[in-house]
Amino acid sequence: MRILITGGTGYIGSHVALNVLSGNHDLFILDNYSNSSKDVLTKLKIISNREFQSAECDIKNKDNLIKVFSDFNPEVVIHFAGFKSVNYSIKVPLSYYSNNVSGTINLLEVMDQYNCNNIIFSSSATVYGAPEYLPCDEKHKIAPINPYGKTKFFLEEILKDWAMSNSQNRSIILRYFNPVGAHKSGMIGELPIGTPNNLFPYIAGVIRNKYDYLSIYGDDYNTKDGTGVRDYIHVEDIAMAHVNSLNLLKTNVKHETINLGTGIGFSVLEILTEFKKILKKPIPFKFKPRRNGDIATLIADNKKAKLMLKWDIKNDLNQICKDTVRWINNYSHGK
Ligand code: NAD
Ligand code: UD1
Repeated sequence: MRILITGGTGYIGSHVALNVLSGNHDLFILDNYSNSSKDVLTKLKIISNREFQSAECDIKNKDNLIKVFSDFNPEVVIHFAGFKSVNYSIKVPLSYYSNNVSGTINLLEVMDQYNCNNIIFSSSATVYGAPEYLPCDEKHKIAPINPYGKTKFFLEEILKDWAMSNSQNRSIILRYFNPVGAHKSGMIGELPIGTPNNLFPYIAGVIRNKYDYLSIYGDDYNTKDGTGVRDYIHVEDIAMAHVNSLNLLKTNVKHETINLGTGIGFSVLEILTEFKKILKKPIPFKFKPRRNGDIATLIADNKKAKLMLKWDIKNDLNQICKDTVRWINNYSHGK
């Protein structure tokens, strides 16, 4: 298949690109490098030993998108391009609506123009808001509490309407829980740009001695040890689910929404214990008050993913932490 990946030099997009390259597909990567580096393209070629096309392109610029589509004529778009910071989305909501929502509408309009009928879209478990029951399945109420989460919710609705508007159109929405870890090569992972808000990038900063300690936000949640519990899933397991979604697009599926998580929750303290086993020394931390908007526990019900994508988790927490440490060590040495 001819596959276009938007945001393909980003954290998740680059891992998916490697999985696509290991199959018998033609790949085109577009990115505006607002949150990634062009170097990733070279790394992808080295790791995969495969050639692919790429372009610097902002999905907000329709003329540039048209150029990509007329050059490559994709059959499927795997769509990652977008902003993802909850905090910034509260400060600059219009920029989030413009980039994520307007950008995606541009993309769909150009897909229509070039008769490209298939899209796989990165959504987030953040659309569920505070869960009313656990594990959280796809039928759970949608109640995003920040502009970032609302862009994902609006886009899910837009993609559903788009799929229904033409008998050929198909859309698959993948709702990621907490993607973490890095590629086994140690050459690609999550880029530490700015001060991280998320747990794993911040831990990476402590391991690299950029920060003295991790602030643990809350020790009084109703969880096994008082710290927040989340469903951390290896980015390579996320990537594999995209390849399996390509197979699902070949069936008579029209529009499906699927959770990607492990179904297992770990607390912040459990994550630190796992890193300690690998590093052979503890990660310093201090307990701080709860973070605004945080919930105690979020865990995926992943039965639908297992059934429809014929997919399962291959990497446990130990592998996640090992791959994270390998990536941090390589990155710290400028590789
Ligand atoms: P990322 O920031 O690493 O990757 C996104 C890529 O899109 C970057 O390379 C960025 O430069 C590019 N981009 C942004 N705006 C663009 C535009 N207008 N035109 C072209 N390129 C643009 O983020 P990620 O972690 O790889 O996330 C990928 C997608 O998955 C995002 O849509 C994100 O919201 C979603 N998601 C991520 C997580 C997570 O924890 N990482 C969780 C749930 C959902
Ligand atoms: C956060 C976002 C969520 C988004 C997801 C993307 C918020 C409120 N939620 O989810 O919308 O989809 O990132 O990856 O921002 N923690 C610490 N110290 C830190 C960082 C985090 O203790 O420095 C704790 C948090 O309180 C939480 C856990 O670690 O219990 C995971 O946090 P994080 O990695 O930010 O992910 P989420 O909060 O699940």
